[in-house]
Amino acid sequence: MAEQPYSEKVMDHFLNPRNVGEIPDASGVGNIGNPVCGDILRLYIKVENNIITDAKFKTFGCGAAIATSSMVTEMVKGKSIDDALKVSNKAVAEALGGLPPVKMHCSVLAEEALKSALADYYKKIGKDASSFEPKAEERHEH
Ligand code: FES
Repeated sequence: MAEQPYSEKVMDHFLNPRNVGEIPDASGVGNIGNPVCGDILRLYIKVENNIITDAKFKTFGCGAAIATSSMVTEMVKGKSIDDALKVSNKAVAEALGGLPPVKMHCSVLAEEALKSALADYYKKIGKDASSFEPKAEERHEH
């Protein structure tokens, strides 16, 4: 039998993703596309008093993209903006019990979607997001 490459946690978040959907009155929305695989991720955050009170996502992506998006929305809820900015793709992958090396780039999609949503929020409140905003070619504008 072929060895299962994914941890139980990855499978759980893939099969039962948390926080799927959209936030109609979101404080920030991030759109990221991976130019290599073509997968797309949209992440919504709600911010109140500098705390992320809600996060949701929609993805047209692979299983690892779904699992990492699900995990990243769980991880940032209740965090301050500064702490959310420290959430790396490695931390997300670790929280999932690891990802196969060929799937690490999918977790980068989740991290960048979060940063893109935070940058969108910063722009709305007139703050400079240039230190962490993903590069334009990675953003997926609709
Ligand atoms: Fe594209 Fe996973 S293969 S995000």
